[in-house]
Amino acid sequence: MKRIPVWIDCDTGVDDAVALLLAHALPELDIRGISVVCGNTSLENAYFNTQRINGLMGANYPVYQGAEKPLLKEVKFAVTFHGINGLGDVDLPVPENAASTDEKAWDALYACACTHPGELRLVATGPMTNLAIAFTKYPALPGLLHSVSLMGGSASVGNISPAAEFNFYTDPQAAAIVMRSGADIVMCGLDVTLQAFLTPEDLDELEASGTRVGSFTKACLLPALKGSRMYNLTGVCMHDSCPVMYLAHPELFEGEKAGVVVETRGTFTSGKSVTDLYSDKQFPFKNALVLLKVDRDRFASILKERILSIEKPEAV
Ligand code: BDR
Ligand code: CA
Repeated sequence: MKRIPVWIDCDTGVDDAVALLLAHALPELDIRGISVVCGNTSLENAYFNTQRINGLMGANYPVYQGAEKPLLKEVKFAVTFHGINGLGDVDLPVPENAASTDEKAWDALYACACTHPGELRLVATGPMTNLAIAFTKYPALPGLLHSVSLMGGSASVGNISPAAEFNFYTDPQAAAIVMRSGADIVMCGLDVTLQAFLTPEDLDELEASGTRVGSFTKACLLPALKGSRMYNLTGVCMHDSCPVMYLAHPELFEGEKAGVVVETRGTFTSGKSVTDLYSDKQFPFKNALVLLKVDRDRFASILKERILSIEKPEAV
């Protein structure tokens, strides 16, 4: 099987952590590099959390640091869902052999895209700041990528404000740059990611596996599960696993091509992704495939099976 080269840009983050585990465990995908951005937590936390996940899954993917703050706005970390350390306040060691580099996220991403012209899938699960800097510094980059599969935006509801989703809200200017970059975009917004949840029973099943990965996954998601109950959600949403899962299992998803722009200035609508999906007036372009539905049961079952495959249960 020819594996798909993937670059992941994330703000690790509990659901980013699960997305990394999933990407590592899907045999269809070949992670070529990971970059981090501030968002759910500080850049420093996101960096060390990613190294912690590297250690947990026995991998040593290169991790490149990117933006410490959004292009223009001040960032407000998502402590309720991700804890103070970004990993639901679960303590996980940073591996001693973690490779470190001074190469910046955008430079490393561009170099990687040049070695896989037309092939590299860029997955983005945090604010789009690193992508916007990369696309601005290297205008050829959007055309060199196969596609950008991103978690961000929403054609309907918001989660951080009535209008906007967290990743787009945190850096609306960056999201706007990405959406008009000309890259081939798959938008996994809240429309689909709110359907991609794990139930408390799913989390119990992960823990009952007797693996470190299973126990970690449940423990780190507990604060987010508690937060989700405040919003009457049935489970904890695996927002960031959607753009990863889509690359290996597009058959689980349904979507529509649409015109999407991002509001950068509105008092009530900053960061809102405005689509022409439900509008009688249409934009003169269709710049994204907007995912709208996922088969939740198959999604959850593949997610659990894959991340538990990373490690054999400890012998009793
Ligand atoms: C997004 O916001 C973050 O808190 C999650 O990690 C996800 O990327 C969902 O709106
Ligand atoms: Ca994220």
